Amino acid sequence: SKQAKWKEIEGIPLAAATVDNWNQIQAFKAKPDDLLICTYPKSGTTWIQEIVDMIEQNGDVDKCQRDIIQHRHPFIEWARPPQPSGVDKANEMPSPRILKTHLSTQLLPPSFWTSNCKFLYVARNAKDCMVSYYHFYRMSQVLPDPGTWDEYFETFISGKVNWGSWFDHVRGWWEIRDRYQILFLFYEDMKRDPKREIRKVMQFMGKNLDEEVLDKIVQETSFERMKENPMTNRSTVPKSVLDQSISPFMRKGTVGDWKNHFTVAQNEKFDEIYRQKMKGTSINFCMEL
Ligand code: A3P
Repeated sequence: SKQAKWKEIEGIPLAAATVDNWNQIQAFKAKPDDLLICTYPKSGTTWIQEIVDMIEQNGDVDKCQRDIIQHRHPFIEWARPPQPSGVDKANEMPSPRILKTHLSTQLLPPSFWTSNCKFLYVARNAKDCMVSYYHFYRMSQVLPDPGTWDEYFETFISGKVNWGSWFDHVRGWWEIRDRYQILFLFYEDMKRDPKREIRKVMQFMGKNLDEEVLDKIVQETSFERMKENPMTNRSTVPKSVLDQSISPFMRKGTVGDWKNHFTVAQNEKFDEIYRQKMKGTSINFCMEL
């Protein structure tokens, strides 16, 4: 049953277990050679993780055949006993470490700001992100019930979804992108020209791979391949956690699916709220390809 085990930190809803573990998470010690993958949920986290993994393994698919949930990139705010916490996992990992978070800049453990580490942020346009999150809320058996689309629409806008407001998250990371070593990518650019974006990630990671290896990474990290791959499609997660008969984790992987969900009135309302909340930022999203 969908139990709402949620609390808030600074007004941001987070899993209760994460909040209970908050002191350990905040005390996390980042290292200078860490790479932190940062996203708002449903922005392409799994995709960028697979790309980073493939680059790290020089395009060797077999070495990437590790379950994305269990064995890759500790999720620093993960806290669900009896499994080891993300912090415990990260502390046991050899360097250089690749870590992952959905935390906003406001909630990130402070040592990240002084460690001189690298950050890789992926942003996805708010409307598609909202649609993707809706279907994830529906299929997740551990998140609260999203209600109807119309109800969820209001919840998303108010920021009372897990990990908080899309607007605050994206704004926060965008605004500091020049002050830290941040590679800021867009989901829509990754769709339009994956090779170009993968090359940016490779350079950011200080790697130099041949063109043919890059082509292979493009192929292996396509939506179609990742949907088939049991190491990335979440099919290893029990139905009591993610019920993929309601909506698959690898759902559509497109730009512009929001048009199949938003009514004309909702779209107008959303655009107005977007203008207010994103006022003064220079960030620009592509809404269709
Ligand atoms: P949709 O629900 O719109 O299909 P996250 O990994 O951050 O939870 O994001 C999940 C979203 O990214 C889902 O979006 C999923 O289909 C999409 N996705 C995952 N792998 C992808 C890929 N290789 N190419 C394009 N989209 C991908």
